[in-house]
Parts: sequence; structure tokens; C-alpha cells
Amino acid sequence: MEFNIVVEPEAAWAADAVIFFVFKDAEDYLPGFGNWMASRAAWVADSPALADFSGELGKSAVVYGSGANIRRVFLIGLGPQKDFGVEQFSQAVSAAFAGCRELEFRTVGVPLVAFEGIVLEDRYEHFVSAAVSGLYTFDMFKSEKDKKKDFPETVRFFTAEEPPEHFAEAVGKGEAVGMGTSYARDLVNMPPNVANPIYLAEEARKMAKKYGFRFRQMKRKEITDKGLGAYASVFRGSADEPRMIILEYCPKDREGQKPLVLVGKGVTFDSGGISLKPTGAIEDMKCDMAGAAAILGFFHVLGETCPDIPVTALLPCADNMPDSTSTRPGEVVTSFSGKTIEVLNTDAEGRLLLCDTLSFSSQFEPAAIIDLATLTGGCIVAFGWNVAAVMDNSKYMRNLVMESGMSVGERFWPMPLWDIYKEELKSEVADLKNVGSREGMTIHAGMFLKEFVPENVPWAHLDIAGPAWRKKKTPAGAAGGTGFGVRTLVEIASRIDLEDI
Ligand code: BES
Ligand code: ZN
Ligand code: ZN
Repeated sequence: MEFNIVVEPEAAWAADAVIFFVFKDAEDYLPGFGNWMASRAAWVADSPALADFSGELGKSAVVYGSGANIRRVFLIGLGPQKDFGVEQFSQAVSAAFAGCRELEFRTVGVPLVAFEGIVLEDRYEHFVSAAVSGLYTFDMFKSEKDKKKDFPETVRFFTAEEPPEHFAEAVGKGEAVGMGTSYARDLVNMPPNVANPIYLAEEARKMAKKYGFRFRQMKRKEITDKGLGAYASVFRGSADEPRMIILEYCPKDREGQKPLVLVGKGVTFDSGGISLKPTGAIEDMKCDMAGAAAILGFFHVLGETCPDIPVTALLPCADNMPDSTSTRPGEVVTSFSGKTIEVLNTDAEGRLLLCDTLSFSSQFEPAAIIDLATLTGGCIVAFGWNVAAVMDNSKYMRNLVMESGMSVGERFWPMPLWDIYKEELKSEVADLKNVGSREGMTIHAGMFLKEFVPENVPWAHLDIAGPAWRKKKTPAGAAGGTGFGVRTLVEIASRIDLEDI
């Protein structure tokens, strides 16, 4: 779908349908919409379809009529104004674009006056990225593709005067974020026999070539030889080769500056290993690389928008399988940091590959570290499907994550990493064990990771097990991978001050 800006007098606006927004049970229509009806489109104002439409969130209505170039008005419900925010706006726009596809509109017109009264920062950007997200489908493995897939072809932003400053930039950024999110969703949705670690590494290599990132990968032998023993214990029984993906983005004037380091869990399939997961818990485990996928999606946005901040991605990828060569519960492995770990549950594998990557990250002299991981089912028990947990050693990082997330419609809530939890990870035979009791497991995982964060580096751990994956389709989007995290990372990159943390 293409986005165009059309600077023409109102009489010349032409599209299969033109979009306006309606708040639920509002006394007045939004000013731009009201004025347009009064001056140009009495047929809309007079239509019973308009009077009948309640403006409920996620609902839409079409007003058919007799405009010269505009025969349909597509009304998007935003819900009650008092509850309105970026999440509601994105949901409404995504659902509306899915509706436009259903009705096979080829061109959708969006008058800029329609945004009058939508009080949201970056509203154009959110509109565009939500439109892209609403149209996302994953049909790579379907023999028959959806016939409506190419609709809508074009979005035309109509304005009689020059658009506001930075409008084109906002649209471009919205498109980049939308595409980056879709890309992350594709990677998560791809089956584990396709999106294995080698595949992810090749994707990273291609992206590096396209955008000029530095790319390097570590294979099985190098990972083992370098002493990333906790990471190696995860893939020992897997026929699929592991890859540690290293991607570096550095703006020209930032060479030598300490980067923001992003670490992403890239378990391309988590069977649980010898601690095998039961039926019911194993089927969706191709999603266990959603942390790595979100970071790759974010790098796509970096390549398109080139913000002025150096970022390094470290993505430990592997699959976790049972085999006669697999790690057995009770084994002790030596991590890259030198600390020994008793692996009592091979299903707590995420923390094993992440802990070595966190220690290893010191080689890149991080100014700050953020890791993203589908780490614990306990996080879903605690917060439900739509909220991620943040754990940290830095109030600055915690607030940055929560505020950035909130401003783009992704929710994070903190869990404490207090020393009282340390007891849980004490082992009889090694420095640490990889699991504590079930109660508090999300925090235990965070406590475990904290042990491996390079000293004096501000760090935040994001457990995205819930929101990374959607079991069922909603009006605002397809089931499967959600791309959760991409938008928060984009926002963090624009807010973080690496020189003053
Ligand atoms: N990949 C899972 C966590 C997960 C669960 C992600 C559900 C997405 C949806 C992780 O590796 C895991 O298995 N964690 C265990 C930890 C336990 C053994 C301490 C869990 O959640 O049960
Ligand atoms: Zn697991
Ligand atoms: Zn896992």
C-alpha cells in the first residue's frame, strides 16, 4: 500500500472512500468533519447512516451518497473520548483498514482536517503504522492467496493547503515502523523448520548489506570455543545449527561512542529439551524467538530512518531439543563469566543463552543494555496477554521503557529484583541453579540475568512472553506474532540519552 500527499482544493479530492473519525456518543462531530459536511457534504450530514453510527471503538460505518468525486464516507469509531489514547487510535485505524480491504476500496482518502481534535502526539505516524498493521496477513505457506490482498492500493492524504512541517517525515516513519513490525511478525510466524538460526542470520546479513550495518555471526564451534558454555548447553542436542548474530548500526559521527546494546532471545523452537513441554504448552513455541525478531524488525526501522544513535544487536539463536546428546537436568555448565550453573530444568533455557550474551556484551562497551525475551509463562500468569514485564538495575531505564512503551501503545509494568529473591537461585553444587520455585518465576529469571550484566551498566530486561503472541485474531489484527517491542524500541532510540544515563 502506498501513501501519497495530494495538495488540491477540496472539490478535486477523489477516492473510493474518504475517512473521518467519530467519538462514541459525542455531542458534536470533530471540527474538521463537521465543517466539511457543512460546506461540502450535506449528503453525509443528512444520511441516516451517520445518525445510526455510535462511534464504538473498532466499529465502522459507510455512508453512501452523491458526492461528485467521493461516493462513500468511511466512518471510524474511536470509542468514548474520555478513554481515548494511542492504543485506541491504533486499534481503530487497524480495524478500519481491514474493513476497507473487505469492501475492496482501491483508494482511500484521508483529509488532514479529519485529524483536527485528535489530540495525540505523532498522530500521523501512528495512523500510518496502524493502517499497515491492520492489513497484515501471513499467507506465505498458503497455496491460495486472499484475492483481496492488494486492497487498498493507495492512501491519499488530502489537503487544500501545504501539509504541516515534517508531515512527509511522519508518514515515512509510520511506514517504516509498520513494515518493521510486519517483518518481525513474519519471522515469528514462520515455522521453525524454516526460520531456524541459520535463516535468521541470513536475514540479518541481507539487512546489513542493504542498510550498511556491520554483520558478524558466531557458529557452533566459536560459541563453544569462546566459552559461552551456558548458551552451548541449550543447543547441544539440536540438529539445527546455532548462530549468534551480531549487527551494528553506527551513524558516521558516532564512531567510538558507546552503543545501546540490544540482546534478543532467539530460540527458534523451545521444546523444553529433556524437560520436555507437554501438549498444550509446546504448540506455539516457534514464538520463542520473538525477542530477536523484534530487534531485527527494529533494525529495519533503523535502516530506513537513520536516527543519530549507535545500536548493537546481539541475538543468540538456537533451538532447544531433546536428544541423547542434550543437556540433562542436573548437569553443571560453566558460563562465559566463569560462574558455574546447575541446569535443573532444561526448559529454563532462555536465561542460559541470555546470561552468556549479557556477559559477552561487555566486549562492545555498552552505554546501556536492553534485553527482550519470551522468558517465562509466569509473566503471562501475572500480567495477562497484553502486558510485558520490565526488570532492571536502573530507574532511568525502567522509566524510559515504561514511558516509551506507553506513548506508542505497548504496556510494560515493573517487577522488583530485590536481594531477598537471591536465595531461590542458590545451588548445592554450583554457583547458581537455573530455576527457583514456580512462585515468582518471572522475577527469579530476572534475578538470574542480573548476575551476568556487566558491572555499572544500566540494564533493563523485558519479559514479552504474553504480548509477543496473539492466540486469536482480533478486529485489529491477525493471530500469531504481534511484533511487540518494535515500536517501543523505536521510541526508546529517539528518547535515550546515551551520554547521560
Ligand atoms: N519459552 C518459555 C516461556 C514462554 C511460555 C514463552 C509461554 C511464551 C509463552 C520459557 O523458555 C520457559 O519454558 N519457561 C519456563 C520456566 C520454568 C521452567 C522456570 C516456564 O515458563 O514454565
Ligand atoms: Zn523453555
Ligand atoms: Zn523458551
